[in-house]
Amino acid sequence: MTMNANTHRIPADLSGEDIIDFLKTTDRSEIENLYRIADRVRQEHVGEELHVRALLNFSNHCVRNCLYCGLRRDNAQLVRYRMSEDEIVKAARQAAGQGYRTIVMQSGEDPYYTEQVLYRTIGRIKSFCDIAVTLSLGERPFKTLKACFQAGAERYLLKHETSDPVLYKKLHPDLHYKNRIQTLKHLKEIGYQTGSGIMVGLPEQTYESVAQDILLFRELDVDMIGCGPYIHNPKTPLRQRTLDRQHFIQPEEESVYKVIALSRIVTRTTMIPATTALATLNPVSGAQTAFNAGANVIMVNITPPQYAPCYEIYPRGSRAEAVLSFQEVAAALTKATGRPVSKGYGHRRVHP
Ligand code: 5AD
Ligand code: SF4
Repeated sequence: MTMNANTHRIPADLSGEDIIDFLKTTDRSEIENLYRIADRVRQEHVGEELHVRALLNFSNHCVRNCLYCGLRRDNAQLVRYRMSEDEIVKAARQAAGQGYRTIVMQSGEDPYYTEQVLYRTIGRIKSFCDIAVTLSLGERPFKTLKACFQAGAERYLLKHETSDPVLYKKLHPDLHYKNRIQTLKHLKEIGYQTGSGIMVGLPEQTYESVAQDILLFRELDVDMIGCGPYIHNPKTPLRQRTLDRQHFIQPEEESVYKVIALSRIVTRTTMIPATTALATLNPVSGAQTAFNAGANVIMVNITPPQYAPCYEIYPRGSRAEAVLSFQEVAAALTKATGRPVSKGYGHRRVHP
């Protein structure tokens, strides 16, 4: 299949079959063409600016037991931590002081942070700091999600991980696919800019299911799309990847860039990060390649250094994470990409 690089010919209504063809192709010129088209769509619909988010992983406790994840409750090999309310507010104030205009408050699913605590913490951050708040706290009751929105949080991330209900069930012994999708709908209804996403290269993840994932992003009208590679974690029960190229999406970097590019083409105005997992796989050019294939967001981990190594969802090697200021990150990004870095909140602008 060939696609004309003229964006007017790129239908946002790429069919499931078109998407599968692109996911399967190993033809270099077709792949490069796909990235070029995604880059044009990105340029046309969200412009040149890159958006930088400060990521605070404030608790690695989790009541869930997802088979692939190092934070799963049965992983006894993980040192657990929780940041206090004051520590969280302090980290947000520092981030805002350094120029960050979004803080992503992320944790395992940890009910220790009750609705009241979240409401108060978010309220304090919003009253002290000029910063947008994104939450990534897992599935919470509707009432809690609403309270957090009323406290001032603008965005919420909740990946659906895979739209294959059979695979979903295998991977998530204590979650239900239907609830996941329902919660995403609730988030939109409440008024959040809502993010979903998937892991790419999960064992037994079919091409068909990934095409379905990409179409689902559009169907749910999500505002943000986070797609990263599945990275095997030996401290979890999920075994290695499946290498049957005929049926299953290949667990390689290229598959992730393709998913990013196709998600950009299909959804156009969404905010798409070059994910942390991608940078883990390829610290040198991972983000750069994603930025050339439709991505426009990056997250910088600002978790205090005494906690950061414990947020071990998957092995990250020995890379020490320096906490960089917004200015440092912005300068490095502009140097590497030639693109400007937004000084605003970076909300999604929806064009008709
Ligand atoms: N590899 C890559 N990403 C993972 N996540 C969890 N485990 C892994 C893994 N082994 C991602 C999931 C989840 C978030 C907590 O981290 O997408 O949403
Ligand atoms: Fe918990 Fe999320 Fe990891 Fe599942 S993926 S174990 S909900 S942190």
